[in-house]
Amino acid sequence: MTLVRSKIIGCGSYLPENILTNDDLAARMDTSDEWIQKRTGIRQRHIAADDEKTSDLAVNAARDALDHAGLEAGDIDLIVVATTTPDETFPATATTVQRKLDIGAGFAFDVQAVCAGFVYGLAVADSMLKTGHGKRALVIGAETFTRILDWEDRGTAVLFGDGAGAVILEAYDAEGAPEDRGVLSTHLHSDGTEHDILYVDGGPSGTGTVGHVRMAGKEVYKHAVTKLSAVVDEALAANDLSAADVDWLVPHQANRRIIDAMGDRLKLDPSKVVVTVDRHANTSAASIPLALCEAVRDGRIKQGDLVLMEGIGGGLAWGAALVRF
Ligand code: UT7
Repeated sequence: MTLVRSKIIGCGSYLPENILTNDDLAARMDTSDEWIQKRTGIRQRHIAADDEKTSDLAVNAARDALDHAGLEAGDIDLIVVATTTPDETFPATATTVQRKLDIGAGFAFDVQAVCAGFVYGLAVADSMLKTGHGKRALVIGAETFTRILDWEDRGTAVLFGDGAGAVILEAYDAEGAPEDRGVLSTHLHSDGTEHDILYVDGGPSGTGTVGHVRMAGKEVYKHAVTKLSAVVDEALAANDLSAADVDWLVPHQANRRIIDAMGDRLKLDPSKVVVTVDRHANTSAASIPLALCEAVRDGRIKQGDLVLMEGIGGGLAWGAALVRF
């Protein structure tokens, strides 16, 4: 019998050149570097140039991942882009990425689960590869999130940044394979009744405008810690593993305090928690692949390591993935 699994064979990232520091923000609104660092751990964020779209960020991350894996664009069957900030209402940003990579075959679509988007995208691509919908998938988290911020609202304007991260998943027959590598399991949840604590007040069939992020930060914070703790427990239990087995926690990067709380709960040494929120701020669907790629490319995450990813965002939507590298 064949046991098809998908494993991560490459990753890439892209951050726009332009950096906005907390002091830059303090010069244009009633905030301070001290407040932002103390409450969130954020020091700076990257901002896409006026002529950079989400697909441009995604393509740069995708090319980096293809180089890392030693593959050509034509080797990809499926592209999933997790984004909340698509280039256009339609088509999917994923098909625009396909066009920019000059791929005229296979299939591509977007996944919208806001800050949980990468975990959702990974789950969807993993399921499709396991069920024979192709051999290799590019899973990209890409956002120009700063384009949907209300710069008059200091409660949200200081929290987000732009960027993109990508991984390449490859299906393989894990039956009898020497190591149990690949996506071990993914766990997705949402609770639509919590819409009002995190949403965008616009959209094509609502107001006809793009809208801006609206968030009740404290409420989201409370949900984040409890729901992420539960989904992490669920992922470990599903694989008969315990927190002590986890080599790396790669969390969604919304707030340093949430990241630390999750690391403490798992009793992980802080050096085993990958943190980028200080330099990238919250890049929504891009935050997990950006952090993952940083730790893979700088040699921290090695083959055989057990990596736990988790994230939560608007919806509310949340999830976790356990991956053996
Ligand atoms: O990725 C999607 C998921 N999102 C999250 O996980 C975000 C979760 N929430 C959070 O990370 C935190 O709730 C925030 C960082 C958003 C806010 O931190 P907080 O400790 O919950 O602060 P707060 O909203 O309760 O605000 C405390 C005070 C308020 O002033 P008063 O009412 O105490 O006088 C705010 O008006 O801080 C004030 N404040 C600010 N002050 C300076 C809010 N934003 C700012 C700011 N600069 N940028």
